Amino acid sequence: MNRRKFLALSGGGIILAATATVGTIASRSPAAAAAPWDHAGSLYEEPRKRALSYAILAPNPHNRQPWLVDLSAPDQIVLRVDTDRLLPHTDPFNRQITVGLGCFLELLVMAAAQDGFAVDLDVFPQGSDDLALDDRPVAIATFRVGAGTPDPLFAHVMTRRSNKEPFDTNRPVAPETIAQIARAAIHGSRVAGDASEGSVAALRQLTSDALIVEIETPHTFQESVDLFRIGKAEVEANPDGIDFSGPLFETLGAFGLMTRAAMADPTTSMFAQGKAAVLANTETAMGHLWQATRGNTRADQIIAGRDWLRLNLAATAAGVAMQPLSQALQEFPEMALHYEAAHALLAQDGETLQMLCRLGYGQTIAPSPRWPLEAKLI
Ligand SMILES: Cc1cc2nc3c(=O)[nH]c(=O)nc-3n(C[C@H](O)[C@H](O)[C@H](O)COP(=O)(O)O)c2cc1C
Repeated sequence: MNRRKFLALSGGGIILAATATVGTIASRSPAAAAAPWDHAGSLYEEPRKRALSYAILAPNPHNRQPWLVDLSAPDQIVLRVDTDRLLPHTDPFNRQITVGLGCFLELLVMAAAQDGFAVDLDVFPQGSDDLALDDRPVAIATFRVGAGTPDPLFAHVMTRRSNKEPFDTNRPVAPETIAQIARAAIHGSRVAGDASEGSVAALRQLTSDALIVEIETPHTFQESVDLFRIGKAEVEANPDGIDFSGPLFETLGAFGLMTRAAMADPTTSMFAQGKAAVLANTETAMGHLWQATRGNTRADQIIAGRDWLRLNLAATAAGVAMQPLSQALQEFPEMALHYEAAHALLAQDGETLQMLCRLGYGQTIAPSPRWPLEAKLI
């Protein structure tokens, strides 16, 4: 959601009417939901928990944080997926959820390396189902002391973001910068990007069209709306999903002006404003980057996630903001036309597109909410 645009569209009257009481409501910020960012690396002595305190900061679809970890075997972490945290409508085969778990694993490996541990990853050791994730382990991570090599990208973990704000349309992204970001992918996905005028125009159009389909398809939009967290109390109660915090949303929520019911109802102005706000974002793309794998097994999706985390960190290092725009890559039937168009344009020889994002220079944004590690221990 483009928060600034939203302010312009829907907040003006309310902000003008602000009183001292509104000011107090508006100044609430969800501090506890940000605490895992402050505590990363500092709360625990135990090496696995130290590494996990960073891994929980990984990017993941709709910020579902679908990870669960079992520490009962010494020197090992068994990672499982929380099957109550999938996205069955927009991600029917759990491909994106698996990519997010790959991001988690890469961050785990990098954080362990900072403390000198190498991590051996055994991915889906009991097999997997291509159509649906289940209770079987996603990975077993075994820590080996003294063999880890720190990665320079780790320096950018605390400032990495998925930036959902508009980008500066006066500031182009240089092709060399895109090439430099793409080189961060080392696990086997193919990464390409383009900031030329023709490509930017075509992909702004494609990503906007796909967003419109997701929003105008009731069952897929409802999946997002159900995950809206409006204002501090909701974000603190569920530090995940799609968070609307900060003064404007705090005030709109407190006065009952922004409700999930109104946002989901296509006849309301809230619905129209929400749609306009997200589309305004895609139109500020100054370049795009995409990632493909030759196959589309669970192992391929984990590889994509591991590389995605690295790309996001490399972009952070280069000062470039990125926002994944996954709609055209989604496998629900109503998206089929855009899925095919995206693959015809960007995939080679039967590849599967795993990620597509817009690039640009954006404002600094706050970290997104996280559940603490304790909530994720089995
Ligand atoms: C597989 C995958 C797909 C994603 N798709 C989208 C997307 O379509 N739109 C979007 O705004 N963010 C998308 N994101 C970013 C997540 O929303 C983001 O990682 C999450 O909210 C946590 O925020 P953070 O990355 O700033 O920590 C995606 C992330 C992953 C890993």
